[in-house]
Amino acid sequence: MTTTHEAGWAHAAGALRGPSWLRRPADPNELVPALWSRTARKHDGELVVGGVGLADLAAEVGTPAYVLDEDDFRHRARAFRDAFAGWDVYYAAKAFVCTAVAAWVAEEGLCLDVCSDGELTVALRAGVDPARIEYHGNNKTQPELRRAVDAGVGRVVVDSLVEIDRLVAVTADLGRTQPVMVRVTAGVEAHTHEYIATAHEDQKFGLSITSGDAMDAVRRVHQAPGLELQGLHSHIGSQIFDASGFEVAARRVLALHARVRDELGVEMPQLDLGGGFGIAYTTQDDPADPADLATDMRRIVIHECRALGIAEPHLSVEPGRAIAGPAMCTLYTIGTVKPVRLDGGAVRTYVSVDGGMSDNIRTALYDADYSATLAGRHSDAEPTLARVVGKHCEAGDVVVKDEFLPGDVRPGDLLAVPGTGAYCRSMASNYNHALRPPVVAVRDGAARVVVRRETVDDLLATDEGVA
Ligand code: LLP
Repeated sequence: MTTTHEAGWAHAAGALRGPSWLRRPADPNELVPALWSRTARKHDGELVVGGVGLADLAAEVGTPAYVLDEDDFRHRARAFRDAFAGWDVYYAAKAFVCTAVAAWVAEEGLCLDVCSDGELTVALRAGVDPARIEYHGNNKTQPELRRAVDAGVGRVVVDSLVEIDRLVAVTADLGRTQPVMVRVTAGVEAHTHEYIATAHEDQKFGLSITSGDAMDAVRRVHQAPGLELQGLHSHIGSQIFDASGFEVAARRVLALHARVRDELGVEMPQLDLGGGFGIAYTTQDDPADPADLATDMRRIVIHECRALGIAEPHLSVEPGRAIAGPAMCTLYTIGTVKPVRLDGGAVRTYVSVDGGMSDNIRTALYDADYSATLAGRHSDAEPTLARVVGKHCEAGDVVVKDEFLPGDVRPGDLLAVPGTGAYCRSMASNYNHALRPPVVAVRDGAARVVVRRETVDDLLATDEGVA
């Protein structure tokens, strides 16, 4: 049997207009500043980031490559630190981390949220103070918990009842006391500028407030020898543009916080409201300034604490994307430009680059939107609607679904995609045995490879060979 589905973005028919939000630019050479890192400029058509011309950089390190604007990353880290002054800001390492970045995070006065043994190892290797590391994850094994406790992480965020037992065993064995947060689900799911406050508890993370599991976990942690109950943790989603979702979550989580005080006689000192602060991937996105979000969140928490008659706990947040995302762009070389005639006669220009879903899975996985610009030269050609695709053996290997590029775009041109700092390198794969690209930090006219390009030897290092 053949099943059919309604034609979506991937199967357009008729005239090619692109999505309604995408405007035909007067000059496709121009950058839209909100989408790029702070130091990105065009100079005679060449994209320059951190004072480094990307045509020169491509000649030196090859493509594809992630270009990391160090000033931009540090600036965003500081902006969160300052906006949330008096609170703790944990950079979510899952967005992107390497030892250099972990060190920048620490230098800028932020703490670090890790969610795996690997991320913890990178943080420790970078010299991050373990007391400023928070350890997440919904299925931490006993050996993983042991390494985290042994390393002296500042807090472990527990995500299940069984994990509490594992942690008790680990602390007993090591003779240590471990500060603990309890991750709860507040029944709120937020994405972009909308949130849904109904039954979004049908997912693997956290312990439900409404079912009573959260209270059970709090009680167990409170009573457990070797565990020190610090507070509740709630993370409501990704790409959040305003504080309304946080408001509903904070109200529910603080109500539990108050209940814990009333039933257990414990004033928990901490509260973590998670991450999820949005960024602009395309011109359709209009994220709030961290300072405005911080003001709103502070007001919400103070108001709720007053209403509940509880002392204001020490707060923390966990931005990942909003710090790393805009700081990076991906630099590609165009290999082919193929006009494809569609039903109805329209022609779509398929621009193939030398990377794709192995370095940016977000388009294929989340239907994410990105933008792109020609990075190596100026063009006087009229803009044409193009689709940027990768070189993998998969039709869904799309990097940028729709973008206006100069009509004379051709093989050998450099193309840059902004906003790829979060969840691109960190989710990169070796699909089709692709070599994962390097991350090159640029600053003040100098480039430094902070993660080198993989080699064929790296790929074959785990292949045990022909018997
Ligand atoms: N804290 C917790 C507990 C989280 O689960 C996450 C993200 C964050 C903080 C950081 O969220 P951010 O500020 O970066 O949005 N791969 C997806 C996103 C998955 C996010 C998972 N958790 C994507 O590419 O959009």
